[in-house]
Amino acid sequence: MPMAGPLQHDGPAETNGEERRPPTTARTPTLSHRMKHDKSILALTVSFTNVFAGTQGGEILVYSLDTYERRKVIEAHKGSVLALCLSQDQGVLLSSASDPIINVWCPTTFRHLYALWSTYDVGDIFCVAYSAHHHAVYLGAQNTSIQWYDLKEKDSRPRPPLASHPSERKNRFFDSAGPGGVLTPRPNGSRNRQRDAVGGQNLEIAKQDIHQFAHYGYVYCMLLGRGILPESPSEEVLVSGGGDGRIILWRINPGKTGGISQIYTLEDGREEGESILSLAREGSFLYSGRLDGEINVWDLETRQLVRSLKGTTGDVLTLSLGGGFLFAGGKSGLVQKFNQHYESISTFKAHNGLILASAFTRFNDKPVLVTGGNDSTVVIWDIQDCTEPTLAGRRSNNDLMVESLSQFVSFRTVSSMPKYRAECRRGASFLRSVFQNFGAATEMLNTAEPYNPTVFAKFRGNPTTAASRKKILFYGHYDVIPAENEQGKWKHDPFTLTGEGGYLYGRGTSDNKGPIMAAIYAAHELANEQSLAADIIFIIEGEEESGSRGFAQAIKANKDLIGDVDWILLANSYWLDDYVPCLTYGLRGVIHATVQIESRHPDLHSGVDGSALLDEPLKDLVMLLSKLTGFHGKVQIPGFYDPILPLTDDEKHLYSEITETLLRGNPDLGDPEELAQSLMRRWREASLTIHRFQTSGPENSTIIPRLAKASLSMRLVPNQEASEVAQSLKSYLDSQFQQLESKNQLTVTIDHQAEPWLGDYTNEIFQTLESAIMLVWGPTLGQRRSSVPVLKSTVDCSAPSPTSESRPSPTTSNTLANGSVEPDGARSSSPTMLARKPLYIREGGSIPSIRFLEKEFGAPAAHLPCGQASDSAHLDNERLRLVNLYNSKKIFKKVFRELPEK
Ligand code: BES
Ligand code: MN
Repeated sequence: MPMAGPLQHDGPAETNGEERRPPTTARTPTLSHRMKHDKSILALTVSFTNVFAGTQGGEILVYSLDTYERRKVIEAHKGSVLALCLSQDQGVLLSSASDPIINVWCPTTFRHLYALWSTYDVGDIFCVAYSAHHHAVYLGAQNTSIQWYDLKEKDSRPRPPLASHPSERKNRFFDSAGPGGVLTPRPNGSRNRQRDAVGGQNLEIAKQDIHQFAHYGYVYCMLLGRGILPESPSEEVLVSGGGDGRIILWRINPGKTGGISQIYTLEDGREEGESILSLAREGSFLYSGRLDGEINVWDLETRQLVRSLKGTTGDVLTLSLGGGFLFAGGKSGLVQKFNQHYESISTFKAHNGLILASAFTRFNDKPVLVTGGNDSTVVIWDIQDCTEPTLAGRRSNNDLMVESLSQFVSFRTVSSMPKYRAECRRGASFLRSVFQNFGAATEMLNTAEPYNPTVFAKFRGNPTTAASRKKILFYGHYDVIPAENEQGKWKHDPFTLTGEGGYLYGRGTSDNKGPIMAAIYAAHELANEQSLAADIIFIIEGEEESGSRGFAQAIKANKDLIGDVDWILLANSYWLDDYVPCLTYGLRGVIHATVQIESRHPDLHSGVDGSALLDEPLKDLVMLLSKLTGFHGKVQIPGFYDPILPLTDDEKHLYSEITETLLRGNPDLGDPEELAQSLMRRWREASLTIHRFQTSGPENSTIIPRLAKASLSMRLVPNQEASEVAQSLKSYLDSQFQQLESKNQLTVTIDHQAEPWLGDYTNEIFQTLESAIMLVWGPTLGQRRSSVPVLKSTVDCSAPSPTSESRPSPTTSNTLANGSVEPDGARSSSPTMLARKPLYIREGGSIPSIRFLEKEFGAPAAHLPCGQASDSAHLDNERLRLVNLYNSKKIFKKVFRELPEK
């Protein structure tokens, strides 16, 4: 689903004393990010930094509210996680499940603190609440009871025998004797606890801490808080909703180990009350969700039912409040949004299936709604029309950057397809307007017709240093590779930026629109903070993917405007894998050529005219192309490999560092020597590719085409001169064609050519980039196997730590291995700290303008790859990881600030 479209600035405003309603588009929350999982999401809660999602598989998933990356999968329960509750001070996280256990966790280290169970079979534990004041845990269960445990008592109570643990109890099915007294065999491992629910203290609810028949039905939902009783606003009160259709308010008895007694019941007088499925409260209003879209509004001051709303959500399975709105989610997969007058102001499809959970929070002052459902996804929604003025439309720079990128991606700036010429111009003017809005001086540099213009912009550094100010040129391209999506292989529309699983999907996100946006926002933020010492010049062209047609001329014609340049920076390549940041110091060059063979005859019929006497153009072409390469792609053009430089010892060292790092992360990569060889083949050796054939005439198997052509390219490495290679390609093909003694005519055209580039990786730009990368990316959670023992996490939870016998077991080879096997590290139980020095790499791809810019301005270039190896640039489902976008901005910021000091 799409990201936020153009920015909405339609906050609440007063016009002639009347409240102006925001347009419908602003009232419907926009999907900001979707996180996919493989099991239903049954419960949700949010902390200041994370979303916690409970699944049908017994896991608690932890997602970052900043980057939407999955930080952890806690294997928490043997049954479905039915409820999650974070204490008001966010000191403890509680999970309840169908096992039926309550686990208590540290929400920052995810350490298991306590496992809590009832002496009796309670069935599913549908809900859990926590009183920070009394340190008491409350559960509501299928057997209609409410039970509690006062954590202050945990060390003075007798330790429960292991046999009392619900998984050790007799099971009516498995443990009763069948015919002949035979026991049903239990599935393997069924007695084991979930992997992460270990190390904590075991606690059993005392027999007296149970309120049997709290409801005449299942206890579905609970909430706990202050301000519920008008006469005693500071008192913590428990509220429960049940299958009997009643809502009961409970007093927590002082000094009685968390015991409760009924205060009053909210009832609507219906004979057989229909289940209360969900509860939410704001101030003195309590909201309850029931079957078939019924939402009741209760006034806690008067204890009366004040409104009954009829929603279209189906059974109201979840209610959330925030930003002045009530959000109801239900069986239909719809979320319905109500304003303070209980008017339904928007209804939108949030999930393909039931919505089972929701939560509202503010992250960086931005209001967000989180929903989860049985389509196994968690969705983050932006709420744009909050009535609270402090919340209305406040967005962080990172949010704005993603929004600008979303607009940038929406332009189909495909340089290779003439039908998108106008769209390319629109994309260029949009880009220019971004620069203009940030106060940069801009120009549109025209190229020779019909090529796309180049956008020029300059952020001026601090004027007091005008004479000595350094100048950094950032080069990028706004054109993209086509993404017509004819085969429907894109998961989402390629030109609608879509957030999913921590990634932004869309054509150009990685190549090269995302990195450009990161650099623009870096310069803008520095300018805003008045800490821009250098001039940052942006040159963003629109023909790179087509060989930078017209670029050199346009730059030459505007040399005065651009002025001189000290350093050149670009960001248009990828890491070697998905984990280790890299710096690129070399690119191959490229020559694209078309080889065409034409006969004097028109297209002919092979039956009527085919004979050995006729020289067929396609046959000639095949014979001719076969002369270009020998076995294993060895290029046969005389002298082709001669200029290639030998491998130096320094270079060799770089390759061994690379292979070591890669193998550490993924030992399956095999032999280091072979790995190094394959990299060298791609980075420092030339190659030749035949891309496609084209023939004249109708597409059927009786035609002898009068014309056949092939397009091919050769990747060149440093010391090979593109124009010399082009010349020798032409003369080699000419001479080979002569030998065919064909009556046809050969034409070889060079479509475009690019020089290879080799940077000096020891210079000050690379040094500055390196230290910025290390600061921004590392040390961080390691995905690579480390020889260093896993660092024990420093636990800082407000809850007391468990006793020494029950501490987590030491790291085993298994936990270490998991760190390297699981790519996102999310399932590993302990983090490994690793400093991330970037790998110095070269690339097999080409960027025609780099060598040209270096020569033209007499300045050295450096290349920061922003994307991961799995970005799929030029392919379907191109993407850029959100953290890579954020961190690239940080790196640029640091480099723009520090490079001028060098
Ligand atoms: N970003 C790429 C260059 C690149 C490709 C760097 C692969 C690292 C790895 C650039 O946008 C590109 O696609 N270049 C073309 C240039 C060609 C059209 C002249 C290429 O390499 O084919
Ligand atoms: Mn490209």
